[in-house]
Amino acid sequence: MTILWGGRFAQKFDTAAWDLNSSLPVDQRMAIQDVDGSLAWVNALHKANILLDEEHTSIALGLAAIKEEFSSGQFSFVPSDEDIHTAVERRLTELIGPTAGKLHTGRSRNNQVTTDFRLWMLGAIPALDSALLNFQAALVEQAELAGEALMPGYTHLQRAQPILLAHWWLSHYWPLQRDRTRLKDLIVRVSVLPLGCGALAGTPVPVDRTALAVSLGFAEASPNSLDAVSDRDFAAEFLFCASMIGIHLSKLAEQIILFTSTEFGFFELSDAFSTGSSLMPQKKNPDVFELTRGKSGTLLGLLTGFIVTLKGLPSTYDKDLQEDKAPVFTATDTLLTILPVITGALRTITAKLERMRTAIDSFMMATDLADYLVTKGIPFRETHTIAGNAVRAAGEKKIGLDEMPLEVYQALSPAFEADVYQVFDPMRSVEKRNAIGGTSPQSVKNQIKQIKGE
Ligand code: ARG
Repeated sequence: MTILWGGRFAQKFDTAAWDLNSSLPVDQRMAIQDVDGSLAWVNALHKANILLDEEHTSIALGLAAIKEEFSSGQFSFVPSDEDIHTAVERRLTELIGPTAGKLHTGRSRNNQVTTDFRLWMLGAIPALDSALLNFQAALVEQAELAGEALMPGYTHLQRAQPILLAHWWLSHYWPLQRDRTRLKDLIVRVSVLPLGCGALAGTPVPVDRTALAVSLGFAEASPNSLDAVSDRDFAAEFLFCASMIGIHLSKLAEQIILFTSTEFGFFELSDAFSTGSSLMPQKKNPDVFELTRGKSGTLLGLLTGFIVTLKGLPSTYDKDLQEDKAPVFTATDTLLTILPVITGALRTITAKLERMRTAIDSFMMATDLADYLVTKGIPFRETHTIAGNAVRAAGEKKIGLDEMPLEVYQALSPAFEADVYQVFDPMRSVEKRNAIGGTSPQSVKNQIKQIKGE
């Protein structure tokens, strides 16, 4: 087999070492990007008067034919293809003969691979964004469907204060909105062209790198060749974004798992997104959310693994960097697999409104009780203690705060009057939290307006 860089070697390369070295199984996914990058490079070489018109035409036509072979699934790899770059060049030689050898003039795989990778990522980010957007749409749909339905809000997984179910749905919208902004912001750093930096020191060919960048859809050409061939921040950052998305999805997944349990019974999954047990006929399991939660760990592992790979690498290109693509591809695939499924699961989930409403007990309005006394002129720190005493008294009597006689309240504080019982209306509690970001129906309406850009 003919190896691209075989010239200086007298002996055959060990086959096991070849397998270790080869990155084709992973990087063949960047075939189209590799051909596009080569086409742009050959155009730049031509403009720089490195190629004759007929050489340029021949290489460009050959590359176009190769692109067609990839698009139609006709391209065949051979055992000597070490990576996608060598595969394309080998095929070009088969198609147009020795002129193909001029394509790699002034170029190295070091600047080529990271160009391909960046191009690939520039395509993956919008795909991820639109999957996230669909998922967010399902959350907003559910929020709108929930109307003014109430549910218990928790801290420490203990009943805390009543909230609107819609507010809870939207609390999962905003983190994903930040994730999407983060991805968009990352585009700025991905959209920097390494091509034209050679192996490390730059290219001796007088190419217009700015024009080259524009021709490939990049915003700018990298300003330092040593940095250009070794920079993988963008990949680490992408993996961070993916991990953060995973964590946000996992947090929601955990809540759905908990809330679909019989103990909570706040939601029921549709049959299309539930799984059964091979043993227990009654089971309706939330596997898709458990897998979402589980895969968030895998995503975080991809980030951790790769960022450690980058630590302490000597400048500039090191073969360790070949480890960059697999985690990014896996992270992308993982999210693009999870997102449509949980989007469907949320679109078809049923909220058990009555069950949520009855899970709100009068003790969840203990803060409102303290706030009530504040309106009677007592400082909050004192009212907190009085309300605490009321909670204790009701607990001892095994009754709700709303069932405790007025005399008992008045014994705790003479400021209590007959209107105190109004505070135990959870909707009243919710309505009072009307400042920006609160759970009141008005605030939730405002959030939806903000989301829809109205
Ligand atoms: N397959 C390599 C990678 O993914 C391409 C660059 C190889 N460069 C080299 N000098 N060996 O990083």
